[in-house]
Amino acid sequence: MDTITNIMTRRSIRKFTEQPVEPEKIKIILEAAMNAPSAGDGRPWEFVVVTEKSSLHQIAGKVDGGNDMFRQAGAAILICGVPSKEKFPGFYPQDCSCAAMNIYLAAHELGLGSVWIAVWSVPPRIAGLREILHIPEHLEPFAIFPIGYPGENLPAEYRFDEALVHYEGVIQK
Ligand SMILES: Cc1cc2nc3c(=O)[nH]c(=O)nc-3n(C[C@H](O)[C@H](O)[C@H](O)COP(=O)(O)O)c2cc1C
Repeated sequence: MDTITNIMTRRSIRKFTEQPVEPEKIKIILEAAMNAPSAGDGRPWEFVVVTEKSSLHQIAGKVDGGNDMFRQAGAAILICGVPSKEKFPGFYPQDCSCAAMNIYLAAHELGLGSVWIAVWSVPPRIAGLREILHIPEHLEPFAIFPIGYPGENLPAEYRFDEALVHYEGVIQK
């Protein structure tokens, strides 16, 4: 799939089949995540890969408010920010967002589905994940992605809106 097709057809997938996710595909997704751009090339991130069913079930209880996506997923990847590795203070959320987007797109390219589940700025999710996955204080849980083979088929959406584009500045009406 070419890059523009990938971007234009990616959707958030929240239902998964029981087909296991190959470790090689998880590795490719992690490679894509770590190849993301970051301010000053600081790469202020670490990743926690979860494949144990018992952990995925615990995450479901703490993070997704009772629906089944983490119970169904073959794996999950938690991105953690590492503020001490920032090259420019305060930039790790932007850096981690770039890694997160690469996870979305790499999963889609590999025939997998995923969804960005917000953790950053959601205190109960941060606390729950710290507890379940033993995340130390120097890592900031940022976003978690359940990953699996899609159990739902969502159509591509076309969201371009010319009204939101300003050429050469914003003309006040
Ligand atoms: C920063 C961010 C946080 C998100 N947090 C959640 C979340 O906590 N739970 C969830 O189900 N989806 C979450 N999403 C997914 C969005 O709901 C989804 O991207 C949006 O509805 C557009 O749908 P699409 O991804 O299929 O294009 C998040 C997406 C982003 C970018």
